[in-house]
Amino acid sequence: ASSVASAAIVEHSFYVQNLTVRRLCSEQVVTAVNGSMPGPTLRVREGDTLIVHVFNKSPYNLSIHWHGVFQLLSAWADGPSMVTQCPIPPGGKYTYKFELLQQEGTLWWHAHVSFLRATVYGALIIRPRSGHPYPFPKPHREVPILLGEWWNANVVDVENQAEAIGAPPNISDAYTINGLPGDLYKCSQNRMYKLKVQKGKTYLLRIINAALNNQLFFKIANHNMTVVAVDAGYTVPYVTDVVVTGPGQTVDVLLAADQEVGSYFMAANAYASAGPAPPAFPTPPPFDNTTTRGIVVYEGAPTSATPIMPLLPAFTDNPTAHKFFTSITGLAGGPHWVPVPRQIDEHMFVTVGLGISICPTCLNGTRPSASMNNFSFERPSSLSMLQAFFFNVSGIYTPDFPDTPPVKFDYTNVINAVNPSLLITPKSTSVKVLKYNATVEMVLQNTALLGVENHPIHLHGFNFHVLAQGFGNYDPVNDPKKFNLINPLSRNTINVPVGGWGVIRFTANNPGVWFFHCHLDAHLPFGLATAFVVENGPTPESTLPPPPVDLPQC
Ligand code: C2O
Repeated sequence: ASSVASAAIVEHSFYVQNLTVRRLCSEQVVTAVNGSMPGPTLRVREGDTLIVHVFNKSPYNLSIHWHGVFQLLSAWADGPSMVTQCPIPPGGKYTYKFELLQQEGTLWWHAHVSFLRATVYGALIIRPRSGHPYPFPKPHREVPILLGEWWNANVVDVENQAEAIGAPPNISDAYTINGLPGDLYKCSQNRMYKLKVQKGKTYLLRIINAALNNQLFFKIANHNMTVVAVDAGYTVPYVTDVVVTGPGQTVDVLLAADQEVGSYFMAANAYASAGPAPPAFPTPPPFDNTTTRGIVVYEGAPTSATPIMPLLPAFTDNPTAHKFFTSITGLAGGPHWVPVPRQIDEHMFVTVGLGISICPTCLNGTRPSASMNNFSFERPSSLSMLQAFFFNVSGIYTPDFPDTPPVKFDYTNVINAVNPSLLITPKSTSVKVLKYNATVEMVLQNTALLGVENHPIHLHGFNFHVLAQGFGNYDPVNDPKKFNLINPLSRNTINVPVGGWGVIRFTANNPGVWFFHCHLDAHLPFGLATAFVVENGPTPESTLPPPPVDLPQC
């Protein structure tokens, strides 16, 4: 065989079907892929083409998103329902086909319609092309660790009930590691993920936060971990005893089995951010305060030994989260590294926060809402935005998403009593149109109008550089001095700090419609989203091809 291996075509079929599973003492009908939850782990190499035939045998409308994949000239395969495609109806089928280019590491796939991603999700692992090594010592084995959430209910019902009464959805009943709640939950003693290791070997854990509504802390007793990548971008190795992830994010760590032969718990609990300000909302939103755990067992460990438990951070430990999010740097000059753009074409300042909308039929006459720059996003219903873009159909979205908030105010203050218009946000399908190759710098600012919270904001189709982040109001004079323009992290999801801000930059080098939203699923129906419409460039290589013939129609 030639030493320059050619890219492969990797083909899978997803049969999405309802099945009955048993968790926490009861049986539940869930929608899952190929009979398992999490679903299949997809393994490709950079440069490969992935083809996934999705057969929707479930009773729900469905679409699958390949979270973090750049989808170069393949926006039709991105997947968010009503953004890049109409959903696949029950009984329908759609083939997602795309190349994995210019990124390596851990990504994942999930349903992108309603709350279905609670059970329809799995890992997507992109290894280097053959002959290309990792920028770290080759691990003995690679292990996906998917952190998830479980409801003792049908998740589509959970969302619909909340919608009907105008309340936030019920919190989940358990967190899970690779689909299993672990022994701290009732009836789950045997429902614990087990990782077997050999002393002296090193393991690459590909940690994915697939939870719907919580950031999570993750630890392994007595063991440090070395972070080597986040969101499929390599990092400078960073040694830590705790990993912090927001929904949507991935963290690759090397775990050296270098402790005494024995058994050690791995565990995850919520990072339920709240405060420090405002005083009126000192408590985090409701969350499951139980811990999910699995176990790391060394070969030869006595079966009788009691495993050691890690000491987890407190739920509101903002300093630990902030340290993790700001201490890791990108591997500048490493594989697929992209330098930070220095010329900025578009400067944006975008508020992210919670509010209310008027709802005469709801309990208090209002329902929760959320907005970016006071615009609350509503998905279109008759045609996907990408079809509207490609076929030039007007009236599906409007290019009026503002570059700055309509009113400037002290974002750390609860001022709903003073200015209710800031709290009540209109629904619209507003987008920001970008020229091909435009560079964007965006300040994301959390507002305190209705309580502060850490929001994991996810951009489809691109990674961005995270230049800086902090608490309080963004200071346009002094905070730019803190920007890391040399080796910042490259991510697809930024945790905008609770009551704080983050600054990102990216180059819009891929035509299409790219969703930009909070990855807390509770906030998506509230409207915490917008989209970028990136225009075609001047050449065929910068023009979105026509849709596949089997693209679902509304
Ligand atoms: Cu992982 Cu728009 O999502």
